[in-house]
Amino acid sequence: MGLLDGHRAFVTGGGSGIGRATCRRMAAEGATVAVVDVDGDAAGAVAGEIGGIALNVDVADSKAMAIAVADAAEQLGGLSLLFNNAGGSNLAATDAYDPDEWERIVRVNLLGVYHGIRAAAPILVAGGGGAIVSTASISGTRPAAGEGPYSAAKAGVVALTATAAFEYAPTVRVNAVSPGMIATGLTAPLLDNFPEISDRMVEKTPLARIGTPEDIADVVVFLCSDAARFITGQNLVIDGGMTLHGSGVDGLLRSFSPVEPA
Ligand SMILES: NC(=O)c1ccc[n+]([C@@H]2O[C@H](COP(=O)([O-])OP(=O)(O)OC[C@H]3O[C@@H](n4cnc5c(N)ncnc54)[C@H](O)[C@@H]3O)[C@@H](O)[C@H]2O)c1
Repeated sequence: MGLLDGHRAFVTGGGSGIGRATCRRMAAEGATVAVVDVDGDAAGAVAGEIGGIALNVDVADSKAMAIAVADAAEQLGGLSLLFNNAGGSNLAATDAYDPDEWERIVRVNLLGVYHGIRAAAPILVAGGGGAIVSTASISGTRPAAGEGPYSAAKAGVVALTATAAFEYAPTVRVNAVSPGMIATGLTAPLLDNFPEISDRMVEKTPLARIGTPEDIADVVVFLCSDAARFITGQNLVIDGGMTLHGSGVDGLLRSFSPVEPA
C-alpha cells in the first residue's frame, strides 16, 4: 500500500530536479501523475518512465494553465494533488535588472502558483479533498543580495499559501516547502563551476551537505499524504539547518573549541 494510492497529481516543473524527483516518488507511492513542464521533451521522458501523462505548458500563461489542468483532470479522471513547483531565478542588483526580466521571474515563480491554484482548487474541492503544495524557497524568508524578484516572488508564494489554506479548508490542505541549496539544473551552474561556493554552502549547513531533489520530494509526498492530515497553511523549510544561522554571536564557540558542531 502506498502513501498516495488512488491520488491523481498535477506537477509543474516535473521535467527536472525537484519536480522530477517528486513525480517519481509520487508514482512510487501509488499516484497517477501529470508531468507538466515548459520543456515538453523533459516532461515526456519523466511521464514515460512513471506511466504518467506529459503536458507542455508555461506556468506563466494563465490560459494555457487552465486548459492543461482541465485536460489533466479529464485524462486522469479527476485531480486530488497539485504541486506548484516550476520556477527559476537570475542574479543581479535591483537597479541592474531589466524590468522585463524582473517581471518574467515574478510571473513564473508567483503567478505560476496562482494560475495553478486558480485552475485546480475548484476541481480538488469538487472531488471532495486533496492537497496543494507549492515550492517557495529560503530566499523568500531569508533573501540574499541579487535575488530581488525571486525573493519577492517566493515570499509571495508563502503568503498565497496561507491565504489559500483559509479559502479551501477544510476540504483541501495547502502548504509550501522552502528548499535550501539543492543540487538540480537550477543550481548546477553554481555548484559545478564554483567548487568554493559549494564548499561554503556545505560549511554553512549543520547537516553538512548539499541537498538532493529527493530530500524535498519526500517532504512533498508527506505533505500530500494523510500523514499530514492536520497540517495546512505552513511553509516547511528543508535546508539542512542552513538558515538557523544569523545570531549576533554566530560561530563564537568555534573560536574557543575545535569540536563545536557546524
Ligand atoms: N535547487 C535549489 O537549490 C532550490 C532552492 C529553493 C527553491 N527552489 C525552487 O525549486 C523549484 C524547482 O527548481 P529545481 O531546483 O528543481 O530546478 P530545475 O531547473 O532542475 O527544474 C525546474 C523545472 O521547471 C521547468 N520550468 C521552468 N520555468 C517553467 C515555466 N515557466 N513553466 C513550466 N515549467 C517551467 C524547467 O523546464 C525545469 O524542468 C523552483 O521553483 C525553484 O525556484 C530550488
